[in-house]
Amino acid sequence: MSELPCILGIETSCDETSAAVLLGGERILSNLVLSQAPLHRIYGGVVPELASREHLRAIVPIVRQALAAAEKSLAELDLIAVTQGPGLAGALLVGLTYAKSLSWAAGKPLIGVNHLEGHIQAVLLEQRRRALPGPEWPAVALLVSGGHTLLYQVEPRGAGYRYALLGRTRDDAAGEAYDKVAKLLALSYPGGPIIDRLAALGRENAVPFPRVKLKTRGAGESELDFSFSGVKTAVLRYVQTHPELESEIAQRRRAMAPLGNPGWEAWRDACSRDTLDLLASFQACVVRELASKALRACELRGARSLLLTGGVAANRRLRRELETAGGPPFYAPALELCTDNAAMIAAAAYPHFLLGERLPLDARAHAVWPL
Ligand code: KG4
Ligand code: ZN
Repeated sequence: MSELPCILGIETSCDETSAAVLLGGERILSNLVLSQAPLHRIYGGVVPELASREHLRAIVPIVRQALAAAEKSLAELDLIAVTQGPGLAGALLVGLTYAKSLSWAAGKPLIGVNHLEGHIQAVLLEQRRRALPGPEWPAVALLVSGGHTLLYQVEPRGAGYRYALLGRTRDDAAGEAYDKVAKLLALSYPGGPIIDRLAALGRENAVPFPRVKLKTRGAGESELDFSFSGVKTAVLRYVQTHPELESEIAQRRRAMAPLGNPGWEAWRDACSRDTLDLLASFQACVVRELASKALRACELRGARSLLLTGGVAANRRLRRELETAGGPPFYAPALELCTDNAAMIAAAAYPHFLLGERLPLDARAHAVWPL
């Protein structure tokens, strides 16, 4: 018998329904993720009503499957962890309501987890599950996803952790910029993975995008804030001033639509050299913005490690940049722990459980919930 508590994690904050079973914050017994991406693909972004409906369909079977895959019964759980926010209100409510029902029916304690803390804890979970040493503190965490681009200073405090916000995006999230550029260029949804692959085939200096310059700082704004709307608009302008690209996009939209979910080679064959160059230049600009601010934060805070997490942390160009930039040692989870998943939610709940925190059954979901 393991000494570590058995945790059921549930995540439904956006367009992934996920359930996981963990022992403590370190051993993943199961981590199932059902992505709704194929459903939202035709809209080029997540449609909140559809997301809630799909979570409702998926939540009961996925929790059952996660328990079965871990060979655990509801009675064997020690606690239930659920994402309480931030995220889409309707989507959060599905997971939260189901977790409350399970907690009440099975008499198990419930912990409400901040999704952002989940992403950061995914980095520590990765180290623990591989029995590798954890990061040295203080750390700077760069959290980059479809909904967030945030920089935190992180360090342990008692049995838990302390997170201090250092910077955030002033407009689009980095993943959102990837998704919008992919939509503009008639590429697949979500845009990050496909742009990551296609950009590797283009020339980064082909399109000279201007460096991001933040306007003067107001109250609550920092030199470590990010901005991505400029580069997104620059891509739009580039397309508008290159009629051959506009017709290529229209042609790609017509050609790819009947194919359903084509492989990346089909996308590559449907892109001209110009488009690949545009993608490489766009990606270089986004990566430069992310890496320069993260490294500056490390310098300002004397960070002894850099944690990279969130869906965009899967980006190979960004990882390469951070590995070679001469900053502090850099830690990132494996791909399946970068994007939304319930294992990170279960892992994040563990310190809160040890601290004796419990979520009452009348607790609300928080669509907006700063860490
Ligand atoms: O963390 P996540 O699964 O969901 C949110 O909480 O948003 O992140 C999804 C985002 C999407 O915007 C997707 O385009 C982006 O992560 N993404 C990537 C890559 N893989 C996923 N962006 C750049 N490069 C990638 N390889
Ligand atoms: Zn996320």
